[in-house]
Amino acid sequence: MDLGITGKRALILASSRGLGKGIAVALAREGAHVLLCGRSAETLQANCDAINADGFGRADWVQADLGEDNFVETIVKGVADKLGGVDILVNNSGGPTPGSTEDMSGEKLATYFNSMVLRIITLTNRLLPGMKQQGWGRILTVASSGVIEPISGLALSNTLRPALAGWSKTLATEVAQHGITSNMLLPGSIMTDRLKSLDAAAAERSGKSVDDVRAASEKAIPARRYGTVEEFAATAAFLCSAPASYVTGSLVRCDGGAARSV
Ligand SMILES: NC(=O)c1ccc[n+]([C@@H]2O[C@H](COP(=O)([O-])OP(=O)(O)OC[C@H]3O[C@@H](n4cnc5c(N)ncnc54)[C@H](OP(=O)(O)O)[C@@H]3O)[C@@H](O)[C@H]2O)c1
Repeated sequence: MDLGITGKRALILASSRGLGKGIAVALAREGAHVLLCGRSAETLQANCDAINADGFGRADWVQADLGEDNFVETIVKGVADKLGGVDILVNNSGGPTPGSTEDMSGEKLATYFNSMVLRIITLTNRLLPGMKQQGWGRILTVASSGVIEPISGLALSNTLRPALAGWSKTLATEVAQHGITSNMLLPGSIMTDRLKSLDAAAAERSGKSVDDVRAASEKAIPARRYGTVEEFAATAAFLCSAPASYVTGSLVRCDGGAARSV
């Protein structure tokens, strides 16, 4: 299938590693001009070098920290300098620290609300006028399967991501008439640094080995394995594509069947 995004300009937040990087690579393979962002200039440069050497799309990067107040302005300037506008926006962020609801101090809650919710909404609002003007846009927000089935020990994630789900759905109804879609993609267990660190933390808490923790997790997934970044990124690329023009307001799972609800 031709995804119809050759030459489209795609901004992918938190894309130096893991799911964000995988999505950037997948969109570039489809011919998009991708703008990567994250905190490590060295990693971003290396990713862009690899994508550009691939010879499909084109890649640039901007160093920006979702934890900083100047994040939105830095990205808006980066977009103006390097892309000249945005057709595809992939909202992604680093994950919050694990913990219980009692661990959620007001300060922690506010910090993660700012980096995972507020700055994503503010940035999207800055980029929407351009999408409306061109009558085409794709907004994809990466969250977690915890939005539909809260995950024990991830209280911050379970609390903050549903706010984005409500926002993404509301946005979808507001912008559909302009040819813009807004969807959410929910990873279950996809093998990245984040999943490795969550497994390591679970091993430490339980006194089991990391291999045993992973084996037990994989056994509980109908597919009996963790997903790959490539599988996740392919799903994302479709949702950002031209043929996905009538898919909006959706929560799409990429979890090997792990979430049991309909
Ligand atoms: N992997 C899964 O199975 C899974 C499941 C459910 C939910 N999720 C969620 O999906 C998101 C991505 O997960 P992942 O597995 O790809 O995580 P990851 O491997 O830890 O990668 C996180 C990415 O976010 C960037 N990042 C972190 N903090 C940032 C900040 N303050 N400003 C800008 N960029 C920042 C990191 O780049 P730098 O450190 O270089 O800045 C990196 O590129 C996370 O929110 C995670 O909780 C993942």
